[in-house]
Amino acid sequence: MKPYEKYLQEILIDETTLQNRVKQLGEQISSDYAERGDLLLICILKGGIMFLVDLTRHISTPHEIDFLAVSSYGRGARSSTGSVRIDMDLSRQVEGRHLLIVEDIIDSGQTLRFVMDVLEARRPASLRLCTLLNKPSRRTVQIPIDYLGFDIEDKFVFGYGLDLDEKFRNLPFIAVVKPEMIYE
Ligand code: IMP
Ligand code: MG
Repeated sequence: MKPYEKYLQEILIDETTLQNRVKQLGEQISSDYAERGDLLLICILKGGIMFLVDLTRHISTPHEIDFLAVSSYGRGARSSTGSVRIDMDLSRQVEGRHLLIVEDIIDSGQTLRFVMDVLEARRPASLRLCTLLNKPSRRTVQIPIDYLGFDIEDKFVFGYGLDLDEKFRNLPFIAVVKPEMIYE
């Protein structure tokens, strides 16, 4: 039995399905930004890392990548508190640039609302959002999504960047946690 299997209820999105969708998103982004140029992908750490690495390889237009690490104060495994802080900021200025946020999942939307407000205040030329997963039923604040991998139900998932108590980000698929294994 593999270490993650005791937490596994089911595989929600298998590796092939994920990779096919990431490729489609990369191609869509390539065509949308072909004329614009100067694209900067902003990966939200740590969850967005797998998605970023695969997505960037399917974007044919020249682009740069940067990283922004954020966390919520006092968050449990299951919910955001709404109070978000920057743990590690971008390496460069973004004023006048075309920004595309690359995120793993939007749940309540609190994290992304904070990130978008911070980036908007730096006066980019444009700001768009690409998220692999979206849980629409959990939303408490409005977030415009420009590129979406998959809408999912209100289940706690792990793998492909998403963690279960910081582990299992390395799995190549998206898995659902057994409900009895979620600690609040
Ligand atoms: P939000 O601020 O409530 O939208 O939460 C977004 C963040 O919570 C994401 O960037 C993830 O780090 C984390 N998160 C939300 N749902 C899940 C999940 O099902 N599995 C793992 N992490 C999650
Ligand atoms: Mg997380």
